[in-house]
Amino acid sequence: MSNVSPSTSPHPAPALHELREDGILGDVRAARRGEDALSDLAPDAYARGHAAFEARSDQRSLISGHLAARLASRATGPVAVLSVGCGDGSLDVPLAAALTDVVPARPVRYVGIDPYVGSTTAFASAMAALGRAGLSAEVHATTFAEAPVSEHFDVVTFVHSMYYVPEVASTLREAHALLRPGGELLVVNAPRGALNILVDVLAPPVEGHRQWFSEDIPAALTRAGLRTEEVITVDARVDLEGASDEVLDFTVQARLTPALRPLVRAYLDAVSVPCPTSGVPLVPHPVDVYRVRRAA
Ligand SMILES: C[S@@+](CC[C@H](N)C(=O)[O-])C[C@H]1O[C@@H](n2cnc3c(N)ncnc32)[C@H](O)[C@@H]1O
Repeated sequence: MSNVSPSTSPHPAPALHELREDGILGDVRAARRGEDALSDLAPDAYARGHAAFEARSDQRSLISGHLAARLASRATGPVAVLSVGCGDGSLDVPLAAALTDVVPARPVRYVGIDPYVGSTTAFASAMAALGRAGLSAEVHATTFAEAPVSEHFDVVTFVHSMYYVPEVASTLREAHALLRPGGELLVVNAPRGALNILVDVLAPPVEGHRQWFSEDIPAALTRAGLRTEEVITVDARVDLEGASDEVLDFTVQARLTPALRPLVRAYLDAVSVPCPTSGVPLVPHPVDVYRVRRAA
C-alpha cells in the first residue's frame, strides 16, 4: 500500500500548525480566550458527523486494507477479535465477513464495545445480517473500562477510540491482558497534526481530560511496560471544502458557534493541499497504527 509507511518516530518534522500560530490558528485561539468550553456533541450527532466525515475521506478504506492484511496473517483455525470503540460496525463487519470467508465455516468470534447504544444496535444488526455460519458476534453498549469482558482474543483493536479513554497506559495494560499468547493489540490513532490541533484548541474535555493523540501513546506504552513491535503511518486525505456544519463539528469534536465556523473553514482551506490528480483541496489527516504483540 503506497500510502502506508513504517515510522519508528511518528511525525518528527514540525507540524504545519506550528508554522501557523501567528495566522488563522492564532485567531481561533484568540476567539476562544477567556470563553467557556464549547458544548460537546450528543452521541447521535457525533455518529452522524463521523459517518459523513468518513464519506469525504480515503482513510477508512486504507485502515480497512491494513487491518484486513493483519487479520489475513491468521489464515487457519478459530480466531477471536475485540474491537474497542466499534461504532456502528462500518469497519468491523466487512472484516468479520472476510475472516469467515477465507476459511468457510471457520469459527470467528467478533466482540464490539461502544458506549453509544445507537451504534451498538447497528453493529449487532449488521453482524447478524452477514448470516455467516461460523461467526459468533457480540456487542457491549458501554465503555471499555466498564465492559464485562473476560474472554481472550487473538486481536484487540482501538480504531480512533483511544482519544476518549480516561487514561492511556492503564487502558493499554488492560487491553494487552485480554490477548491470547501471540495475540496482537492494534491501536489506530491520529496525531495532533494540522487537522487535530483544532480538537486541542476547540473540543471540551472528555470526562476531565483532553483527547489523547498518537503523540501520547509511546510514553503510555512505556508506563504500561509494553514494547511496540511496529508503528506505521497511513497517509490519508479528507475533502472538507463546503462540508456541512455537522461534519465541521465532528472535525473539531465540539459544537461550533456561528462566529467560529468561518475561522475554522478558513483554517482548513489554509492547511489543504491540492490533490495531484483532481486539484481538489484536501486536508492531510494521517493516522498511526501501533502494534504490540503478547509473547507466544
Ligand atoms: C471515531 S469513532 C470510531 C468508530 C469505529 N472504530 C470506526 O472506525 O468506524 C470512536 C468511537 O469510540 C467510542 N468511544 C468513546 N469513548 C469510548 C470508551 N471509553 N470506550 C470504548 N469506546 C468509546 C465512540 O462512541 C465512537 O463510536
